Amino acid sequence: MVRLDDDFAARLSGAATAVERALDRVLGSNPREGEIARPVRLVEAMRHATLGGGKRLRAFLAIETARMFDADTEGALRVGAALECLHAYSLVHDDLPAMDDDDLRRGRPTVHRAFDEATAILAGDALQTLAFDILADPATDVDPLVRADLVLGLARASGLGGMAGGQMLDLQAETETPDEVAIRRLQAMKTGALIRFSCEAGALLGRASADDRARIRRFGEIIGLAFQLADDILDETATTEALGKATGKDSSRGKGTLVGLYGVTPVRAMLDDLVLEAEGVLAPLGNRAETLAAAAHFVANREV
Ligand code: IPE
Ligand code: IPE
Ligand code: MG
Ligand code: MG
Ligand code: MG
Repeated sequence: MVRLDDDFAARLSGAATAVERALDRVLGSNPREGEIARPVRLVEAMRHATLGGGKRLRAFLAIETARMFDADTEGALRVGAALECLHAYSLVHDDLPAMDDDDLRRGRPTVHRAFDEATAILAGDALQTLAFDILADPATDVDPLVRADLVLGLARASGLGGMAGGQMLDLQAETETPDEVAIRRLQAMKTGALIRFSCEAGALLGRASADDRARIRRFGEIIGLAFQLADDILDETATTEALGKATGKDSSRGKGTLVGLYGVTPVRAMLDDLVLEAEGVLAPLGNRAETLAAAAHFVANREV
């Protein structure tokens, strides 16, 4: 049994601090080569969306997987920053009045509340392209083929057949009654795909073997599903103060969740099974996968 010890907490917060610095650097106000100007209001909205909050789990997964395969630290940090930009964009748009209509995120007003809706839409757009900008930049990896794989992987995970597609299904589910298979699929898309790719990106940077990449991919799928199940439990059981976002909204909006379908207790049992499954997938990687195994526990048992 892996314990969520001080070492894990220190690694997670160390990654968060490093990613915060990397995000601060890429979200400066000076235009980069090929850009014309960076409007102050848009930079401010993007900084509001990305800096000063968040668990940085996606970045952490990429950084830790990369470390496991002895990849370059600076490249992994940049990939982590790219993932957090893409994730922040998904949150900004998820909170819009036309989607989940939320006023609070990470304990602060959502971007459309702090600025306005049009600015929030544009901040999301520009965060999304910034994510691909970071991945395609030679500073991320010397090998253009690896950079192309990262760009393609993020596109597939976050677009039509991934996050954005899953968000479409999530909204449609508000007026339908999806069964367990449909809910698992929409969650694998809206949340699981980016988490899975965060792990895969680390394996790509570390030039992991095909076998190890397949293992990491499966591990990412499992914890991706676990992550959204835990989010759905927290929506039902946690306080707004603890989470920094509104709670109790999934049931009031009729979201398609397994918590809605079965209640909290069976979903907790599913989470325990997923952690065991994740540990089993990592077993052939031995001790070097210890931190990822601890991450599975963190994802399933987190309180924020
Ligand atoms: C929230 O993600 C949105 C979901 C995919 C459930 P996180 O819980 O990772 O949000 P932050 O980044 O820590 O704020
Ligand atoms: C969001 O799922 C998934 C995204 C792609 C952003 P939720 O709508 O449940 O996330 P929260 O609860 O608002 O963070
Ligand atoms: Mg949503
Ligand atoms: Mg939401
Ligand atoms: Mg939620």
